[in-house]
Formats: sequence, structure tokens, C-alpha cells
Amino acid sequence: MPARQKDIDVYPTSQSLMAAAARHVVHHARRAIQKRNVFAMALAGGSTPKRLYELLATPPFRTQVDWTNVQVFWGDERHVPPDHADSNYRMASETFLKHVPIPTDYVHRVPSELPNAQTIAEQYEAVIREHFHVPDAEIPRFDLILLGMGLDGHTASLFPGTPAVAENRRLVVAPWVEKFQAHRITFTPVLINQARQVTFLIDGVEKAETLAAVLEGPRQPHALPAQIIRPHPGHLSWFLTQEAAGNLT
Ligand code: 6PG
Repeated sequence: MPARQKDIDVYPTSQSLMAAAARHVVHHARRAIQKRNVFAMALAGGSTPKRLYELLATPPFRTQVDWTNVQVFWGDERHVPPDHADSNYRMASETFLKHVPIPTDYVHRVPSELPNAQTIAEQYEAVIREHFHVPDAEIPRFDLILLGMGLDGHTASLFPGTPAVAENRRLVVAPWVEKFQAHRITFTPVLINQARQVTFLIDGVEKAETLAAVLEGPRQPHALPAQIIRPHPGHLSWFLTQEAAGNLT
């Protein structure tokens, strides 16, 4: 039986979930900086992680990390300018990055203002490869990748029925997402599954049914892309509220 590669922790409230998640980020940041003098993390978008980012930017968590050794990337981004209301970069900047001393050239936002989504994906992949200094044959290893999950089982911008879910070579792609009538830019499972630590943050009773299907239902990642996330030899953690975990056995 392989070592337990998946931890599921359930918290009574959103607040307790986010406090635990903040401790989790601080723990991985301090350990990475102690071992390698750098902590490379990829942020999730959407609404769930906002409270986590706000917590990281306030005491006590703010003072527990040497932010000058933290490199920040985004696991996915919308095809909008960085000042757009839907921008994951804008959300993280306002809640977190403007309030901690991460050097500006350590904040690697997706160049999502460019007109061509494929170009954006190619450029972002090059930025990631350049940062990690890995040869083309190797896959960069993030210390921590934060993820959310949508009602349809998507994660990052790996949406059901899109080729991005089955991508097995590229690190970053720009799938067309029918329901938004727009492109998204997203890490692929190739890059996500190489991380040392991948952590889902899932809150909300409306996600309970999908989450139970993802964690306890048949394996069908084309329909439930969150199932494609299986880091190895890295570790997968699920930080859930009781509401979101309500349908788990
Ligand atoms: C995005 C996110 C996306 C998000 C889920 C959950 O760009 O929207 O990266 O994958 O994590 O859609 O979103 P909520 O946290 O808003 O429910």
C-alpha cells in the first residue's frame, strides 16, 4: 500500500478552515525557505481563498514568513487585464500581495492582457521554466500549489470536457471554456502533479455533492477534473468545511 498521499481535514467553519490553511502555508513556506532559501507557490483564484490571503497578510501569519524569499505564481488566470474585476491577480494583490514585502520581481503574474491566449500560455510556461532553471525534459517542482474546486468538479481552469484535463506534455495551456465563451490560462496536471504539496480549499454546502463524487465516486477525471490531481511523490491535502464535506462517508 503506498504511503498515504492524501489527507482530508474537515473544519467546523470557514474561519477555522482558513486559519488552518494559513498555518499550513506558513509551515510549508518556512520549511522550504529553511531547506532551499526559496518558497515557490502558486495561488488559486475564485472567491474561497480570499480570506486565506487576507489572513496571510495580517499578524500573526504576516510576521511568520520571510516574504522576501517567496516567489508567487498563479495556477490559473482569466483572459482579462490585471486590473479587471475578474482577475485572479487583482484579487490576490488587493487581499495579500500589497500587504506583504514580496519583491515585485518575485510576483509572476500571468500576462493575461495579451490578445492571444495561446501566446500567454507559452510565455507563462517560459517564465516558469526560467525561474526553476530546469532543462526542457524536466518538470518544475512547486513547493505548494493551492487549488479550489468548482461545482462542476473543475480545478484551476481544468474544466470538464476540455483537452487541458488530458494534457500530458505542456506545463501551461489556454483552453477555450464554452460556458464562459472565453479562454482561460491554466497549469496542466503535468505541472500540478509535480508539486511537493498540493492543497485544495473547499467550502460551501453547494459543493458537497460534487466533492463526494470526486473523492468517493468512480474515477472519471474528464467529467470531474479535480480527480486528475494526484501529486506523486508530492502530497495532496484537502482542507474542507463540514458543509462541503457533508456528503462524505
Ligand atoms: C478560478 C479558480 C477556480 C476556482 C473554482 C472555485 O480562476 O475561478 O482558480 O478554479 O478555484 O472555480 O471557485 P470559488 O472558490 O469561487 O468557489
